[in-house]
Amino acid sequence: MAPLKLRRLRSNAQIRGLFSQTQILAKNMIMPYFVIEGKNKREPIKTMPGVYRLSLDNLLQDIREIKNLGIRAILVFGIAQKKDAKATESYSKTGILQKAVKEIRRQIKDIVIITDVCLCGYTDHGHCGIVKKSNIKYQKPKTQTKIKNFYIDNDETLEILAKIALSHAERGADFVAPSAMMDGQVKAIRDALDNNGFQNTGILAYSAKYASNFYGPFREALGCSPKLGDRKTYQMDYRNSDEALREIGEDIDEGADIVMVKPALSYLDIIYRAKQRFNVPVAAYNGCGEYSLVKLAAQKGLVSEKDAVLEILTSIKRAGADLIITYHAKEAAGWLKN
Ligand code: PBG
Ligand code: ZN
Repeated sequence: MAPLKLRRLRSNAQIRGLFSQTQILAKNMIMPYFVIEGKNKREPIKTMPGVYRLSLDNLLQDIREIKNLGIRAILVFGIAQKKDAKATESYSKTGILQKAVKEIRRQIKDIVIITDVCLCGYTDHGHCGIVKKSNIKYQKPKTQTKIKNFYIDNDETLEILAKIALSHAERGADFVAPSAMMDGQVKAIRDALDNNGFQNTGILAYSAKYASNFYGPFREALGCSPKLGDRKTYQMDYRNSDEALREIGEDIDEGADIVMVKPALSYLDIIYRAKQRFNVPVAAYNGCGEYSLVKLAAQKGLVSEKDAVLEILTSIKRAGADLIITYHAKEAAGWLKN
């Protein structure tokens, strides 16, 4: 006979439930949304089954539904109408995201509004920053079309990010979430908010955002695939982990209230280290590609969607995430309730 029998602790659901260490709750999840101009619009995103671009009326309705399921926070992305090289619509007072924040704030009580702060949805070239011509002759990547040699102007981009953040704070955002991976973006935004009377608007920083292969569906949703080059000069190299901790540490020093690791699943070690090292809230973004992998596998009958999603979300929480941004949030909250 085996002297220790760990299996005694697994013998039935009641016993297992007595000491299960990790619980995901609706309040741990943040639901992302894509908001589009117009009325009664619900445009499916082909590469993300079950996710839609919603006009404001439908968005308000959906937020009421997720609130009833216990979700307390949303992350909103705006779909641009006109794109240009400098992303001018991104900070327009009449932009769809600005209008949406104002209306959500006015019509729905007790929902935490977080807004995406980036240029890529609003630039014609699709980059998260201002593109400049470079005289340095790099080897030309196959994908480059218009400008042969270019770089992203970090500091010029900071000015635009600050303007975007301010335009969201003015409409009532609780947190702004800069996703551009420019150096100093948290400080630039913190200063702009503080200097304009928005000391209480927080920053959820995409601190360790990797140049991931799992962003394709999102880029379809926003129409923001870079038309030249890629995002590897500003997003992180997935071979590195110490650098993620430096990024996170810098963002905390610059004034981030919540730090984020993105994507989540291939980066559970980063989430774990971030939580061990820093005592600030850590968010993980279970992104579009991770979402669609599960959706498509479930459609093919390879996994039970509910079971797979709950396992994935629990693993992200177990790694150390306090908050999980996930397109599964609404469905998962429904499953957790029943
Ligand atoms: C761009 C941005 C991306 C995501 C959020 N903001 C994609 C990218 O960097 O190309 C990804 C969201 C997701 O994976 O669902 N600033
Ligand atoms: Zn971007």
